Amino acid sequence: MCGIVGYVGARVATPLLVEGLKRLEYRGYDSAGIAVMNGKGVETRKAAGKISQLESVVLSSPVHGTLGIAHTRWATHGAPTTCNAHPHHSCDDAIAVVHNGIIENASTLRKLLEDRGHEFRSETDTEVLAHLIEEHFDGSLETAVIDALRHVEGTYGIAVVSSRDPNKIVAARKGSPLLIGLGDGEHFVASDVSAILAHTRQVIYLDDGDVAVLCRDGYRILDVNAASQIDRQVSRIDWDLDMIERGGFAHFMLKEIFEQPASVENTMRGRLLAEEGTAKLGGLNMTADDLLHIENIVITACGTSWHSALIAEHMIEECARVPVEVEYASEFRYRNPIVSDRTLCIVISQSGETADTLAAMREAQQRGARAIGIVNVVGSTIARESDGGVYIHAGPEIGVASTKAFTSQVMALAMFTLKLARLRSLSVLQGRNIVQAMHQLPQQIQQILDGAPIIERIADEFKEATNFLYLGRGYNFPAALEGALKLKEISYIHAEGYPAAEMKHGPIALIDENMPVVFIAPHDSVFDKICSNIQEVKARGGRVIALTSRDEPALAGLLDYEIRIPETIDMFTPVLASVPLQLLAYYIAVKRGANVDQPRNLAKSVTVE
Ligand code: F6R
Repeated sequence: MCGIVGYVGARVATPLLVEGLKRLEYRGYDSAGIAVMNGKGVETRKAAGKISQLESVVLSSPVHGTLGIAHTRWATHGAPTTCNAHPHHSCDDAIAVVHNGIIENASTLRKLLEDRGHEFRSETDTEVLAHLIEEHFDGSLETAVIDALRHVEGTYGIAVVSSRDPNKIVAARKGSPLLIGLGDGEHFVASDVSAILAHTRQVIYLDDGDVAVLCRDGYRILDVNAASQIDRQVSRIDWDLDMIERGGFAHFMLKEIFEQPASVENTMRGRLLAEEGTAKLGGLNMTADDLLHIENIVITACGTSWHSALIAEHMIEECARVPVEVEYASEFRYRNPIVSDRTLCIVISQSGETADTLAAMREAQQRGARAIGIVNVVGSTIARESDGGVYIHAGPEIGVASTKAFTSQVMALAMFTLKLARLRSLSVLQGRNIVQAMHQLPQQIQQILDGAPIIERIADEFKEATNFLYLGRGYNFPAALEGALKLKEISYIHAEGYPAAEMKHGPIALIDENMPVVFIAPHDSVFDKICSNIQEVKARGGRVIALTSRDEPALAGLLDYEIRIPETIDMFTPVLASVPLQLLAYYIAVKRGANVDQPRNLAKSVTVE
């Protein structure tokens, strides 16, 4: 979603803020702004569009000062105009606020404030905060912020400055991620560690209800309810700066696709026990007894993470024989889900901040389930609030379309499956077989990546298509869904994923010579079945692109284009299949001139419901 960065120290703030915003741009990119204390008051610059627009504005009209806050926006309330861009101000311009999240009672508060004479200049919910803090101001900015927040319903991560209490930034968090960075004679606030990684590795993740007061020489964290001081642990970030840079690739998405041999290896590193045919997952915080006590599993997630959940359902039921249900996180809490204290809830999220997923996890916990997180971002809310979990260690994922997180999620879920299944019915030989297949995957992914030019040529053939169908069966039905999602989100081509056999119950009506159909057809247990589906498409003139794993006489003359993937055991075919599908989507989008890393209307981490 939106991104926040703030700085207080001895250096000139504007370049630091703009640089931080650029690193956050993947989180939201419809408008941006900064507010800097210039020695007399709060000076603000804003621009609609990308951060480069704001950069031009500050170059032509510089702002000088060593304390400031900044924001990149993904619109929720109000159009993406300069006027609606953050920071927002109080009537007297003495207070400026940047905000991530949604103020649910904004219209009620706005009416009350207007009745008291406040004049609003934007359509945003955020502006309410600026006026509310002004209303409560009595000399101390943190006191005014705390008093104001007591009236607010909804979610927020905010940073506030004021010329009436000029040497500090006040930041507060409820439901929207925020951290503070500790430097030498300087402090930072940010919604995401990438914004400040160039300057410090020492951070404190704020919890809901925390209010941080940052000055040049120190910081304090207060509790919003008690207004008393609290201690929070300092964490050290082990990401490098080059991990969040493009490193010679045209786009982050391409870099992240090509990182998969390494990211998949990193997910497994030190966790597989080849001899015992199982995995070691210390972070789960579950004993063998706890694992045996599980009666059923509910997996909840959104988008791409939901697709890896579908693969996990298949793996766990097949290998561990425990019943699994997969739920869209956004639907889960609005039903009356059957969850007991013998239910294990697995929560999958790259960012660890997706609002729907977090809410679903809390709902499951409230109903007595134990929740474990399969998360990439260390220190994220889901990672902290879950009862245990497995970090996927894929490294920072900046491209809005998720790629390496997906393959690493499947690996983490496979390790969980191994651990659970070996305690139940899976034999040591079967376990070893799975471990052996896992060890081969990094090099097999590399083999696929080496064939990228073939996929680029196929993309050239299909770049003008208006529709695509992706079909797979068994483990590869989720891979079909994922392939279709990748294509639609970055190229804006309509694409649907279907279980291949379901095609004849409806989608077959769409097939003609203009419809490209991508079949995921490795030599697995359902290969013969998928051959019949390919014939059905061919008989109706459809154009077939197939992912295959060996020369198949049964497919002779049926394929218009063929992409070869290496052979693996059935459960890992979607890992290998997803890589060429990511590349196909990437190359098609690039050839159509789309902005691959920042597709329209999307945001990397969806922290609103
Ligand atoms: C698709 C994509 C989204 C996310 C979804 C969940 O490429 O990136 O569908 O997968 O928003 O995000 P996380 O995994 O961060 O909870």
